[in-house]
Amino acid sequence: MTRLAPPSPRPLDYSRADWSGAFRNVLRELDGERLEPSSGSIPPEIEGCLYRNGPGRLERAGQWVHHPFDGDGMIAAVRFADGKARFSNRFVRTEGWQQEEQEGRFLYRGVFGTQKPGGWLANAFDLRMKNIANTHVVRLGDDLLALWEASSPHALDPGSLETRGVTLLDGVLQPGEAFSAHPRFDPGHHGARRMVTFGVQAGPRSRVRLMEFAVDGPDAGRLLAERSDSFPGFAFLHDFAITPNWAVFMQNAVAFNPLPYALGLKGAAQCLASKPGQPGQFWLIPRPGSPLADQAPRRLQAPEGFVFHHLNAFEEPDAGEAGTLVLDSIVYADFPSVGPGTDFRQVDFDSLPEGQLRRFRLDLASGEVCAEDLELRCCEFATVAPSRVGLQARHAWMAVAERERGNDPLQAIEKLDLVSGERRLWSAAPRGFVSEPVMVPAADAAAEDDGWVLVLIWNAARSASDLVILRAGDLSEQAVLPLPLAIPHGLHGSWVPGSL
Ligand SMILES: [Fe+2]
Repeated sequence: MTRLAPPSPRPLDYSRADWSGAFRNVLRELDGERLEPSSGSIPPEIEGCLYRNGPGRLERAGQWVHHPFDGDGMIAAVRFADGKARFSNRFVRTEGWQQEEQEGRFLYRGVFGTQKPGGWLANAFDLRMKNIANTHVVRLGDDLLALWEASSPHALDPGSLETRGVTLLDGVLQPGEAFSAHPRFDPGHHGARRMVTFGVQAGPRSRVRLMEFAVDGPDAGRLLAERSDSFPGFAFLHDFAITPNWAVFMQNAVAFNPLPYALGLKGAAQCLASKPGQPGQFWLIPRPGSPLADQAPRRLQAPEGFVFHHLNAFEEPDAGEAGTLVLDSIVYADFPSVGPGTDFRQVDFDSLPEGQLRRFRLDLASGEVCAEDLELRCCEFATVAPSRVGLQARHAWMAVAERERGNDPLQAIEKLDLVSGERRLWSAAPRGFVSEPVMVPAADAAAEDDGWVLVLIWNAARSASDLVILRAGDLSEQAVLPLPLAIPHGLHGSWVPGSL
C-alpha cells in the first residue's frame, strides 16, 4: 500500500463549544425569505435549488437525543434565480414527528441510542422504528424525496416543501421496505440519466435490491430495471458507487448482536461492533442494462477499515469482466460509535478515528485488491462533478479538518486533483464549521470543474448558519449569505438545476 508522508501536526484552533453550539432545535419554518450577501455577490448564472437534509429537532422536554443522527429530518432549501436567493425550511411531517410534537416528548427509541424516558424497562422489547427522514433529499419525478435508509422515503412538494406523505414509489416498494439514502445519479452511461439506488434486507444472509429509475422526461420516477442478490453475512451498507457496468459495495467487517437493543439497553446501531483483524468484502453487482447484466455478483476481499461513504468509482479501459475497477472511499480505522453514557456534544475527537480518502484498485481478473492513500487529512462528504459519476474524475471536493492530521470537526473545503495530488483549500476556521459541499456545474461547463460549490456553514461567531458560494475551479469565495436561522450540523444535500 502506498502511504503519503505525514506533515508535522498543528495545534487545535477551534473550540468544542463553538462546534457543539450548532446542536439545537430549529424552532422556525421560513418560506421564501430573501437572502442578502454579507460579502460578495451571487453569480447570476446560478439557477436552481439547493436542498439539504439533516436533524432539526434534537431535544424534547429537556431530553436530548443520544446522537444527532436520531434527530428528525428538516429540509432546508435555497432557491437561486436572477442573481437572487431565497430560503425556505420545513420539517418532514413524519408520523413520529407529528406524534412527538403533539405530546411534547420522545415516544420512540432512536437507532443511534436515543431512549424513551423511563429507563430500560420502558424501552425493552419496543422495536418500533421512527422513520425520521433525515439523511438525504433528492428530486425524483414530481417529488422531492426525504430519505432514511431503514424505511420508505417521504415525498415532499419540491416548491413548498410540504410533506405529501410516505411514498412506495408507485408500488415499487413494500411498506416499510429499506430504501437507501444514497442514490447515485448516472449521468447517462446507458443513454438517459438514471437514479440508481438500493435497499438492504440485513440478516445472517443479506439481500441487496438494486433499482434504477428514470429521472428525465415523461418517464421520470419510473422503475426501469432492478435485480436482487443475496450475500452471506450481516450487511451494513450505507453507501455504494456505480460505474457503467457495476454497482460497487463495501461490506464492512461488522457483527450485529441485537440483544442489548431488544432489552432496551442500546440503540440498534450501537449493537454493531467491528470484527478487529477481519477484512471486509467488496460486493460487485453487475448493473441491469449493462452487457454483464446476466452475470452473478462477485465478491473480493477488502483491506481492513470501515467505510460509510464513497467518493466515486470507475473502470479502467476495457474493465468489463477482466479489467480494473477503481473505487475511492473514505476509510476509518474502525467503526466510530458513540457509546451509551457519552454525551455526543462532549465527544472527544481524539478518541475517534478520522476518515481518510483511499483508492482501491480491484483487479477483476486476479481478484487482487491494492490500496493507495489519496488524502490523509481528516475528510468526509466527498463528491465529484455530476458529469463524472461512474467515470474517472480529475477533481474531487470534500469537507476536511483544518488541522492536517488527526480527527477534528470539519472546517474547510478541499479541492483535490485526483491525478496530480494538487490541493486547494477554503477554510471557515476558526469559528466556522462546514457541511457537505454540493457541486453545481455551470450550465454550459467547458471543464469538469467549471461551476460552483455551495456549502452550508455553522457560523459560531453569530450562532447561525451561512451559505457560502465558492467558485469550484479555484475555491475563491464568491458570496456569503447569512441565513436568518440556526441549522444543526446536517447530513446530505443535492442540487436541482433550473426553475420549478
Ligand atoms: Fe451518508
